[in-house]
Amino acid sequence: MTEIPLSARARAITDSITLAITARAQAMKAQGIDVVSLAAGEPDFPSPDEVREAGIRAIREGQTRYTSATGMADVRAAAAAWFRRHYGLPYEAGDVIVTAGAKPALMLALMAVCEDGDRVLLPAPFWASYTDIVKLAGGEPVIVPAVPEQDFIHSGAQIARAARESGAKGIVLNWPNNPSGAVPTREQVEEIVAEAIAAGLWILSDEIYARLVYDGREHYSPARCKGAFGRVLVVNGGTKSHSMTGWRIGFLAGPRAVVDAAGRILSQAMGNACTISQRAVLAVCNETDDSALRERLRAYDERRRFVVGAINRIPGLRLATPHGAFYALIDAREACARLRIDDVQLTERLLADAKVALIPGGPFAIPGFIRLSYAASMKEIEEGVRRIAAYLS
Ligand SMILES: Cc1ncc(COP(=O)(O)O)c(C=O)c1O
Repeated sequence: MTEIPLSARARAITDSITLAITARAQAMKAQGIDVVSLAAGEPDFPSPDEVREAGIRAIREGQTRYTSATGMADVRAAAAAWFRRHYGLPYEAGDVIVTAGAKPALMLALMAVCEDGDRVLLPAPFWASYTDIVKLAGGEPVIVPAVPEQDFIHSGAQIARAARESGAKGIVLNWPNNPSGAVPTREQVEEIVAEAIAAGLWILSDEIYARLVYDGREHYSPARCKGAFGRVLVVNGGTKSHSMTGWRIGFLAGPRAVVDAAGRILSQAMGNACTISQRAVLAVCNETDDSALRERLRAYDERRRFVVGAINRIPGLRLATPHGAFYALIDAREACARLRIDDVQLTERLLADAKVALIPGGPFAIPGFIRLSYAASMKEIEEGVRRIAAYLS
């Protein structure tokens, strides 16, 4: 019992749904229940040897002190070079700050640009944390309804209309997308960005899955679009591509004045990202041989193909082929209608009765759908899909 009242800010936000469901699945496992978890967006591969060795070396060398809050100079320079090399974005070291993961980078970016009450467009489906991160920064999330019939990619006109009707100041874009796996073509990115800029929006582009694309697709950063470089803030890092979830390290890049402001907030609110993790992420930025990454991609691709085939054979479920990240956003509207339940109840039943953990679409602003993460071993995926099929057949 506490007599300390919570702030409106604290009351406005909820637990991360993905973390909550993953924790529930883990608790069931701890009780000896055989649960297959396809909930977490966390690679099952270990961090690459070079990353781990760099971290160990940093500890041995005694690199365990504070760094500049915005990151070590050589890490910022290496990150800028990595943005140039992989994404065609001409950043310099001073345009990039190092953060404790992509999540704080998003938070800092929004805190640097959002005024209280500013509306921020969130094209659905979107990563469930966006609504609360926008609220924490004082903004007001405005959901742009999902367009599954357009492979989850909005037209420029749909974005323009949402901006006009809401009076939004900014937009959060996320390609490759969590949860849909959508990867728009360069032309589609250009169309959306052109409309966003014409509507006067700033753009926060979350590109944390940029290296995880399939079918010969290419990630095209919104910051590369005509006239966009000065209006786009880019979040990226090695979390997903290099299995670095626990290291807590990421980057925010963009126009110098905004990134500097985000850096000041970082310096007062959080301090530098872990020094050891900064040394470790250098191994990602300086990587010259990407054969190990391509090997991981091949494994994800194999799982993806299996999931698409197997899910589409289950009555009541449909799955359009995702082209990026490691998620399958399954259309379960027919199954839900047949069982007279919604997506939240469906995932609850699948966990309780079939012992398989998935995430409902509701928190991603796409009710009637469920998200399966194929960043799990093929064995777990096969067993998980078998259980879903058995439950729904
Ligand atoms: C779209 C998206 N952005 C950001 C993050 C957070 O990444 P990090 O672990 O680097 O903070 C996630 C994690 O699941 C994500 O899916």
